[in-house]
Amino acid sequence: MTTTETDADGTEVRARTLFLDTARGLAGDRAPVWLMRQAGRYLPEYRALKERHAFWEMCRTPEIAAEVTLQPLRRFPLDAAIIFSDIMTPLPPMGVPVDFAPGPVIRSPLRSAADVARLATPGGDEVAPFVGEAIRLVRAEAEVPVIGFAGAPLTVAGYAVQGAGSSDYAEFRAWLHREPRAAHDLLDKLADVTTGYLRMQIEAGAEAVQLFDSWAGVHDRRGYATFGMPYARRVLDGLADTGVPRVYLAVGAAHLYPQIARLPAEVVSVDWRQPLDAVRAALPGKVLQGNLDPAVLLAEPGDLLAAARRVLREGQGGPHVFNLGHGVLQGTPPDNVARLVDLVHDFVREEGEG
Ligand code: CP3
Repeated sequence: MTTTETDADGTEVRARTLFLDTARGLAGDRAPVWLMRQAGRYLPEYRALKERHAFWEMCRTPEIAAEVTLQPLRRFPLDAAIIFSDIMTPLPPMGVPVDFAPGPVIRSPLRSAADVARLATPGGDEVAPFVGEAIRLVRAEAEVPVIGFAGAPLTVAGYAVQGAGSSDYAEFRAWLHREPRAAHDLLDKLADVTTGYLRMQIEAGAEAVQLFDSWAGVHDRRGYATFGMPYARRVLDGLADTGVPRVYLAVGAAHLYPQIARLPAEVVSVDWRQPLDAVRAALPGKVLQGNLDPAVLLAEPGDLLAAARRVLREGQGGPHVFNLGHGVLQGTPPDNVARLVDLVHDFVREEGEG
């Protein structure tokens, strides 16, 4: 199958469908490439906007969110755009105010069953109409598909209960043991709200969706089986009829792959801790997305390109969407991102070596 075309002067034209075809399980001539956090603070043009607008203001103003989404596409020939927003977006409309400093801070974290009972469950059109509007604006301009996204219930609940990001979410994990009924009520509400919110994004023009379960990996298998997987499954199942490819991301979660392998997601986005050929055996039938260590983008160009080639070779055993194992780091030189994206474009699958 050929998904790339060449125009009159021989330059490669990005077929609109390369990312979507690959996400649906077709391995094309090359891996499509996009990067988590491809918009953001490592780009001077983002920092310039950020000087004039607060983070929530940027997210809630469709013209600004669309502009920030498009910034990396103007610099790099990426094969997909991810809409500029945050996984915290549904919390304020549910009744949980969130500040950014620069990570999310919840001044009144949820603690009691009554706190959870009080939460609103806004419908898909009520959560964040500005995200739908931003998607429409990007669709009108971008040549590549737009990815919608949301946080998975377990990860968003972790922030809402812990009150901020954490390396181990100990407070949240203790709460799951102390208040399992309230936890299930919270996850239940988050699953409903998240499903509606993602369906709205698809209606607005998102052609793929990614569910970020960034902190799933801090839970053991039993905790994930009880509080994580069933709610991620509900959200993903709730999108099945749309036909849009579903990407599920978890970080540091190799111990959960037996459960993740059974989730109704076409694509699994994996971190850099294991090579893709090893991950492929653990996630049979899944398209893999990943998994260059984002730290490598801070290294010398020669080392960066060698590491990226290794990822491309290790990904050849099946459909592969090139990405990082997690988001672009703040100090990343944009020139290194340009080198990386060019390398992925020029890399040709080695027939017979997989
Ligand atoms: O380009 C993109 O990836 C699209 C935009 C995007 C943002 N957040 C913008 C943002 C996406 C997809 C997210 C998702 C997100 N937000 C996740 C899941 C991905 C992951 O990293 O695992 C998580 C855990 C969050 C929560 C969050 N929001 C954190 C931890 C932070 C702290 C700072 C940081 O950059 O890591 C934020 C703030 C945030 N979200 C910024 C951006 C560009 C930085 C805000 C600033 O400019 O100061």
